[in-house]
Amino acid sequence: MKVLVTGAAGFIGSNLVHLLARERPEWKITALDLLTYAGNVKNLTALLDENRITFARVDITDEVAIGALFERERFDLVFHLAAESHVDRSIMSSLEFVRTNVLGTQVLLDAALKAGVGRFVHISTDEVYGSLGPTGYFLETTPLDPTSPYAASKAASDLIVLAFCKTHNFNASVTRCTNNYGPFHFPEKLIPLFITNAMEGKKLPLYGDGMNVRSWLYVTDHCDALLRVAEKGKAGEVYNIGGGADAELPNREVTFAILDMLGKSRDLIQPVGDRPAHDRRYAIDHSKISNELGWKPSTPFMKGLEMTVAWYQANRPWWEEIKSGAYLSYYERNYANRG
Ligand code: NAD
Ligand code: DAU
Repeated sequence: MKVLVTGAAGFIGSNLVHLLARERPEWKITALDLLTYAGNVKNLTALLDENRITFARVDITDEVAIGALFERERFDLVFHLAAESHVDRSIMSSLEFVRTNVLGTQVLLDAALKAGVGRFVHISTDEVYGSLGPTGYFLETTPLDPTSPYAASKAASDLIVLAFCKTHNFNASVTRCTNNYGPFHFPEKLIPLFITNAMEGKKLPLYGDGMNVRSWLYVTDHCDALLRVAEKGKAGEVYNIGGGADAELPNREVTFAILDMLGKSRDLIQPVGDRPAHDRRYAIDHSKISNELGWKPSTPFMKGLEMTVAWYQANRPWWEEIKSGAYLSYYERNYANRG
């Protein structure tokens, strides 16, 4: 079985490659990534050192390079995760989001169709559904209502994938997951930013009133769901993936938990101006994947958060290297005008 993982040096992609190497050791895995600011080949070091996977540095929008790779390798299965993934960056500048997330997905689909790829899993997000009020859940049938350029670009890519299933009988499924957390999470997103800032004794910039709710899923649980969708999911179907009821929390509760686990004072919290069009609440109904594919989240949120805090404590050189250089100029731009 020849398998391609795009975005393989990013947070979820690298965790997925590790899971596949563990669970399906007979698979021949190509890990593809452009290595943007978010990609880090060190996330795959252990597997590369043992020659367990092949790494390809390719831009998914490069149709010549992608076409040649697909013609040469004849993949049986593709997990497509490569994307620009950070909402705040898409607010500062969105062109790259449309280029990578929309055009890049189109290039992959064209190459996959031409090369006769047997199965394609497109990894998307619950953000395509927009914002929820205090009650209710996103279903797979909830209308798409994205509010950030990031979410809009993901929604567009989802629709192209689903159109390929209808038009070309292409064997693809779309997954829409809630917020992930865990090892190798780039320290710009809430949980790794707040863990590492707290460890450094820096302020934790909490947007707005801190009451925006996210539903958190430990990254390995997400990767386990992706493997199930690849092997058992149906063509043309969307599968929502998300954490349990204990994982649906306002940001301030998550912040308190991080500070408590690190034994740090709540005085480190710094309320700052809100994100524009900040979605108030995400919560997902994952009964379809549970009923049809037998998947459910297995890591309780507080246990997963403890494991994540421990990982950042044990891997300080990994995030200290990232939080220098180019990262600093992004940090200044994003938080400069928030008050
Ligand atoms: P990430 O930003 O950590 O990783 C994205 C990876 O894609 C990076 O390694 C980057 O170098 C690579 N990439 C970017 N542009 C590329 C290009 N043009 N060609 C090749 N590679 C390119 O993101 P993540 O959090 O791991 O998310 C992975 C996927 O999962 C994304 O599609 C995202 O929309 C989706 N998703 C993420 C979450 C989450 O909570 N992080 C939740 C649901 C869905
Ligand atoms: O829901 C799935 C999505 O989750 C994925 O599609 C995205 O790729 C992923 O980045 C994530 O998006 P969010 O915008 O929810 O994640 P982020 O970590 O940026 O923010 C989580 C919450 O924390 C959100 O309500 C904004 C808030 N926040 C974030 C940062 C970076 C803060 O209060 N302060 C911050 O400094």
